[in-house]
Formats: sequence, C-alpha cells, structure tokens
Amino acid sequence: MDNSMSDRFSNHVVLVAGGTGALGRAVSAAFLAEGATLIATYRATGEFDELARQAGASRERLEGRRVDVTDPSATQTLVEEIITRHAHIDVLVNAAGGYTGGAPTWKVDPADLERMLSLNLRSGHALARAVVPVMLTQNRGCIVNVIAKAALDHPARASAYAASKAAALAMMGSLAAELVGSAVRANSVLPSIFDTAANRGAMPKADFSRWPKPEDIARVILFLCSEDARVIRGAAIPVYGDS
Ligand SMILES: NC(=O)c1ccc[n+]([C@@H]2O[C@H](COP(=O)([O-])OP(=O)(O)OC[C@H]3O[C@@H](n4cnc5c(N)ncnc54)[C@H](OP(=O)(O)O)[C@@H]3O)[C@@H](O)[C@H]2O)c1
Repeated sequence: MDNSMSDRFSNHVVLVAGGTGALGRAVSAAFLAEGATLIATYRATGEFDELARQAGASRERLEGRRVDVTDPSATQTLVEEIITRHAHIDVLVNAAGGYTGGAPTWKVDPADLERMLSLNLRSGHALARAVVPVMLTQNRGCIVNVIAKAALDHPARASAYAASKAAALAMMGSLAAELVGSAVRANSVLPSIFDTAANRGAMPKADFSRWPKPEDIARVILFLCSEDARVIRGAAIPVYGDS
C-alpha cells in the first residue's frame, strides 16, 4: 500500500451498506486501511465475523450492524445510532445489492421484480433519506452508489435486474443534481462483472484474469470519496476493466 495515502480517511466515519459482501468487504478493508472508522451493515453474522478477523489491527475501528437496508425505518434507526455514537457520517457507500436473471421478461415472477426493486433501488432511497439530511446539516459528505453496467445496456434475460439498476442510476443522478451547491456529493460506479467466488462458480469457463478484482473497484470508490475528487458530482463511472 502507498503509505502517503494511508491516512486519507482518518477522522472519517464511513458507512458501507452491504459492507461484508464480495465488493463491500474490499471497500470496508480499504477504508479501514486508510484510517476510517467503519460501520458495515450485514445480514449473515458469519460474514461480519470474517471481515472482523481480516481487519487485524484495524478491528477497533470496525463496527458491524445487522440491518435490512431495504427497510426505511430500520435504516433511519441505524443512522440515528451512528450519530449518537460518532456525531457524524462522512461517507456512505451503498454496496448492498443483488442479481436475478435467466428468464425472459414475460416469465419473470413479480416477486423477483419486487425483490430486485427492494434490494437495488429502495435500499439506496432508504439510505439517502436517512443520511443526506445528516450530511447537509454537518455541511460535509460523500455518497457512492454501486450500480451496474446493466443500468445502461439492458441485457436480455435480466430485465428485473436491469430495470432496478436503471432506476437506481436515475435516482442517484437526480440526488446528485439536488446536492449541487451543497458540501455533499453523490456519484455512482457501474461494474460489469468482477472477480468473486460466486461469479467463478457460475461461470467456471470464463477467463477470470479479465475481471476486475473487488479491490480495483474499491480504489475507484475511495478516490471518489477523497479530496482529489471534490469537483466530481453526478458521475456514473464505468469500472468494467477488460470484462
Ligand atoms: N458481482 C458482480 O459481478 C456485480 C456486477 C455488477 C454489479 N454488481 C453490484 O455490486 C454490488 C455488490 O455486489 P457483490 O457481488 O459484492 O454482491 P454480494 O457479495 O452478494 O454482496 C451484497 C451484500 O449486500 C448484503 N445485502 C443483501 N441484501 C441486503 C439487505 N436487504 N440489507 C442489508 N444488506 C444486504 C449482502 O448480505 P448477505 O450476504 O448477508 O445477504 C452482502 O453483504 C451489488 O449492488 C451488485 O448488484 C455486482
């Protein structure tokens, strides 16, 4: 690691929703390595335990909260608890999300569409609803949403996923426009496919070397949250690598 950058986020309180997922844990680890106090939301306790184990000396700056971030009232309570404990939230990264696919649109179960909208769209809304007023009051803040290339290219047999990601991209674009003139910035990153155990399992014949690593995408997210990116608002940055 570049030591000159190792304290970029000291004194920052960073909330990573889905902070124990394949990308989320790389984002959490990267912020911890650069000095942040990190709150990761999770659902599976074992995943948080694994993140905590990997945190090593940063463990004392890591907190986990078992929260369903698609639930607006649970998310509001989470944010209130963070403010009570830490007084501020400087960064929000929403890395919670999920995928469903395989069926053409006319065979998509309405329950699957509902699940995609909850996980990929409503989570971002619930988090923004709770966090943005805090950031505006404290006059400081940065938000990064993890969306997907599918928001733009609408692949076949993934319509519920693509629609939920396109809606999330639109919502975060509007949010970024609303924040112009404030000290709060919002941006998005759009992964295509990246190197996870789940993707390797689903596509065993793919050339994994072409897939970005979660750590590569985490670096872009940290850049967006850094002072160097202070003029970037409303961006939707492709992080496709060679995939
Ligand atoms: N993987 C890819 O190739 C790819 C490509 C394009 C875009 N993306 C997007 O990138 C983001 C991260 O993907 P990933 O591969 O890291 O996914 P992942 O490994 O499945 O991680 C998602 C995380 O979100 C959490 N989560 C799910 N539902 C939640 C809820 N209701 N409340 C709180 N947390 C919840 C999961 O917790 P549990 O594990 O405990 O359920 C997990 O920690 C997602 O938005 C995904 O759509 C991924």
